[in-house]
Amino acid sequence: MLKAIYGTKDVLPKDIEKWNYVEDIVKKIFTSFNYKEIRTPIFEETGLFSRSIGEETDIVSKEMYTFFDRGETSVTLRPEMTASVVRAFIEHSLANQSSLNKLFYIASMFRQERPQAGRLRQFHQFGAEVLGSASPLLDAEIIILAYTILKSLGLKDITVKINSLGITSSRKAYIEILKEYLEPHLHELSEDSRKRFEKNVLRIFDSKSENDIQIMKDAPKLIDHLDDESKQEFQIVQNILQAEQIPFIVDSSLVRGLDYYSKTTFEIVSGKVGSQSALCGGGRYDGLIELLGGTPNYGVGFAAGIERIILALQNEKTELPGNSVLDVYVVLLNKELLNEYYLFATALRKNNFKVEIDYLSRSVKAQMREANKLQTKVVVLFGGDEFAENKIVIKNMDTSSQQVIPLEEAGKEILLSLGA
Ligand code: HAM
Repeated sequence: MLKAIYGTKDVLPKDIEKWNYVEDIVKKIFTSFNYKEIRTPIFEETGLFSRSIGEETDIVSKEMYTFFDRGETSVTLRPEMTASVVRAFIEHSLANQSSLNKLFYIASMFRQERPQAGRLRQFHQFGAEVLGSASPLLDAEIIILAYTILKSLGLKDITVKINSLGITSSRKAYIEILKEYLEPHLHELSEDSRKRFEKNVLRIFDSKSENDIQIMKDAPKLIDHLDDESKQEFQIVQNILQAEQIPFIVDSSLVRGLDYYSKTTFEIVSGKVGSQSALCGGGRYDGLIELLGGTPNYGVGFAAGIERIILALQNEKTELPGNSVLDVYVVLLNKELLNEYYLFATALRKNNFKVEIDYLSRSVKAQMREANKLQTKVVVLFGGDEFAENKIVIKNMDTSSQQVIPLEEAGKEILLSLGA
């Protein structure tokens, strides 16, 4: 039997309303903050991702879906959106059209990770990227936006963690200090962390090994070695979050898995989704536009995983919309009136009622059973004796009351039955 690729998932009709619910709230909140939607191709030249995310990161070194197309170009299914958005920003000279671009997206991403609950190979993110301003107000806004969306979706058990990685020069100086501290402990570190020591020493903070965690506990902290500018801006971000009453903790070990960050970084984690607890993450990436060949400019953004959010909502037992019910089911009593029956249903649909009819030549009893199954609010019995006088029967399924009404009053009477 043919099956979906390992680590990918179908969203079946019974679950689609949850997705629409999330996407509707996301769009509403982004729009209220005046963010504009952007869509980019799902694949790009491989170099775009390796240059921006970083050759030594897990994403680039182990997880990308990369292949040669028929023209021998190395292409990659996007593992994230920031690089693509920045590419589009440079390619279309968006900075010339507007000095500040506030953009959002809802899109699928691809990473060849080991699938588990909350971790897929094709997954979906919503996110935002703001290009064109160094203001820490926007660092705070990005966190506020992410937090507001998660709260509006109904999540309760979430924690905001923030950190500052400083500017490149202060981070480089700190890395030397960290390496000096780690050198005498090298032989005690896990194999993975020993590898990271050479290539990406900050990521040792992400190690899950108990021993590594103990060693990193006493390590010098990046936050104590920040440059003055980053320190001041980080304070402004914290002040705004406090003023907005967003609870947060400063986590100096929050390093993120992508290389492009500078200054503010953050994650929002859930206490309800096990090991894959990060619901969203982001931060400032001021050097990225220049790195990808654009005129130097500023950037800050975040992305959130939709599958993990839905999982967290389910684990928190938050009521999510199920399949919405039907307004009207039209039961055909007389098969000779098929044309009239169909026209009647179409007319109701044109009036924005959600309508279902019988396409399977079922008996009246079977049609009624189907109407019940679909949780219909109103059933119309079409084509009985009263049809000779251009009348139909409508039945309110909540009250079981039934009345005969003229055909042309159907819309009005159905509205009344629906309580609208
Ligand atoms: P990221 O931390 O790699 O950041 O991913 C953001 C979110 O995507 C994660 O917090 C998680 O919820 C979700 N996610 C990541 N991988 C998977 C997976 N395999 N399965 C399910 N969900 C996953 C970025 O992608 C950055 N582009 C965020 C950003 C935007 N930074 C600045 N602007």
